[in-house]
Amino acid sequence: MNRLAGTVALITGTASGQGRATALLFAAEGATVVGTDIDPDGAAETVELVRAAGGVMDSTHPLDLGDEAGVQAWIDAAAAAHGGTNLVVDGGWSAVLSGAN
Ligand SMILES: NC(=O)c1ccc[n+]([C@@H]2O[C@H](COP(=O)([O-])OP(=O)(O)OC[C@H]3O[C@@H](n4cnc5c(N)ncnc54)[C@H](O)[C@@H]3O)[C@@H](O)[C@H]2O)c1
Repeated sequence: MNRLAGTVALITGTASGQGRATALLFAAEGATVVGTDIDPDGAAETVELVRAAGGVMDSTHPLDLGDEAGVQAWIDAAAAAHGGTNLVVDGGWSAVLSGAN
């Protein structure tokens, strides 16, 4: 399965739940995954899991999704490192809705 070969996927909330599951699935499908989460330990563990499975992933953590400048810097760094981005999955969206700006 390589349905996402050649794509660069930005995924938030990669420390757990849907964000982690999406990172693992997209990487297994050939995407280069760029993750982020406010939880550094979980985020780092997801990177290890993806790489152990043979996938490609990097991550910026901790990063609070309420930090607009920080999120922009994460996006810009991903685009610069990988020549652009193709997909965005907001697995950490509840963080913003529940109080972060
Ligand atoms: N799991 C489901 O089946 C399901 C179904 C429908 C909707 N949802 C909703 O989708 C959202 C995600 O679900 P989940 O199960 O993956 O939750 P989760 O708690 O496992 O994952 C959310 C991730 O967001 C991160 N996060 C929290 N605050 C943050 C912040 N300020 N900045 C950056 N990252 C932050 C957390 O550290 C965590 O890793 C939730 O709002 C949930 O209610 C989940």
